[in-house]
Amino acid sequence: MTQYADALAEGLAAEEAATLGDCTFVGDLEVSPVVGERYLVDCVWGRVCDCASQRETWLPVTGPRHEDSEVIKFKWWHQHYDLRFLQPALYDHLVVRTSHALYAVLVDESVPAPRETSRRVLRCLRSQLDFPGDASFAQALERAYAGACLRPCRVCPHRGLPLGSAPVVGGVVECPGHGLRWDVATGRLSPRGATP
Ligand code: FES
Repeated sequence: MTQYADALAEGLAAEEAATLGDCTFVGDLEVSPVVGERYLVDCVWGRVCDCASQRETWLPVTGPRHEDSEVIKFKWWHQHYDLRFLQPALYDHLVVRTSHALYAVLVDESVPAPRETSRRVLRCLRSQLDFPGDASFAQALERAYAGACLRPCRVCPHRGLPLGSAPVVGGVVECPGHGLRWDVATGRLSPRGATP
């Protein structure tokens, strides 16, 4: 068994032992979650693996399940990791070993149930909610979404990711899903490279 898979499982088991208490659902926040505090977080049952082994476990995600064949030709159903709640072992694996290429949980029909999203108590481990993907994705989407507006409660109009708890920098919030940037005051798209 790989070290990162073991550490991931141990970390999640510890969090699951916590009581729900007054935990807030992170999707309802209007400010960034506090590092060290516990929140209710949507999780999906998925598989983590490397060349040596694999393990199924709960993985924190943000936003609904979707595919992206429309603009960026990504036809596989998936959900995006909520990197703020991802256990260090898996986070390090993704960021260091895969150079951020694996930033979403694919729907893998070979992984047994449960299939539905489940809310679980997880500790916020980092403030980062950056878009970890390829900027060319975002640029392709900018052309398709040029006239779109941020939905109420700061929901991204592309695939419905909640942005209420995403950092606002210079009046702009960046969607961690596919990198579209939105002017919070006007709700309009704020293209990459443009001055807010
Ligand atoms: S959900 Fe795709 S850019 Fe926001």
